[in-house]
Amino acid sequence: MTTLPLEEILKQAKSAIESTVDLKSLEDCRVRYLGKKALLSEHLKTLGQLPVEKRPVVGQQINEMKQTIQHLIEKQADVLTQKKITAELAKESIDITLPGRSLNSGSIHPITHTCNTLRDIFTQMGFIFMEGPEIEDDNHNFTALNIPPFHPARAMQDTFYFPNGTLLRTQTSTVQIRAMKTMPLPLRMVAMGRVYRRDFDLTHTPMFHQLECLMIDETVSFANLKGVLTQFLQAFFTLKTAIRFRPSYFPFTEPSAEVDISCLNCEGKGCRICKQSGWLEILGCGMVHPNVLKGAHIDTKRYRGFAFGVGIDRLTLLKYGMSDLRTLFENDLRFLQQF
Ligand code: DAH
Repeated sequence: MTTLPLEEILKQAKSAIESTVDLKSLEDCRVRYLGKKALLSEHLKTLGQLPVEKRPVVGQQINEMKQTIQHLIEKQADVLTQKKITAELAKESIDITLPGRSLNSGSIHPITHTCNTLRDIFTQMGFIFMEGPEIEDDNHNFTALNIPPFHPARAMQDTFYFPNGTLLRTQTSTVQIRAMKTMPLPLRMVAMGRVYRRDFDLTHTPMFHQLECLMIDETVSFANLKGVLTQFLQAFFTLKTAIRFRPSYFPFTEPSAEVDISCLNCEGKGCRICKQSGWLEILGCGMVHPNVLKGAHIDTKRYRGFAFGVGIDRLTLLKYGMSDLRTLFENDLRFLQQF
């Protein structure tokens, strides 16, 4: 069998190794030149045919060549590995000049925001917060609030009734009754929540939110009512907010009043928003009617109370200068994202 001269094998191996492009073809090279069936191994097999004195010399030559080739392979392996890493890095590199994708963060709904503010204000004044059910009975919504069956005030509110006689509460005044029946006196409570009426236009929605406030103690007077209202409205709007009372009628209070605040837009000078009056209607209030106290078994000779109720949605409209109540309930993100 003819074998290539050693120098020729080394030359071929060197050029083959250096022209490999990946670790796989390098491994093929290794098998070809150093493996069991490799050309060099053929040489080793012919050693026996050489004269005895030449064998060690040629054997050493072959071994040195094996080492040289092994070294060349290792060098090339380093080069290829480095090339591979560089290529991968290039592929994975981040183009830091690309504009970033913006994260959409949610925001608190304006009504929730108003509720949070109201909770802070009344908590600081020492009021506790209570809740009541939205599905109410006739008694809590009407009778216990001094609105007996056939009382004309029942017509003031268009009510959603269920077939079993229960109803969707039309006012949070219902929670007053629950508080009087369950809480020890003296009592300072606030309730916030959803109420429902058959109404739908620019300033009315079938569901809206109210805040109800009740204070009962031995010496509670209209002056306390005015003090708490002033504190509340100035904390909610601005310190410049002035309030005024107008006589009014609610079945569950006597005397009753409606409260106006000085127009937030013109500060009382008169503008389009306040219809040139300088005032904005804001809430209803009064001294709790003795019939309501008696119904809750409260000694009317000893205790008196004030109450007021305010639309949370209306407070929100006024605070943010909005005109259409319905926008608060449409869940249009273009509108909500402004807050
Ligand atoms: N419940 C009344 C309404 O829905 C608001 C109200 C008026 C509540 C006077 C009160 C009050 O507590 O004293 O229109």
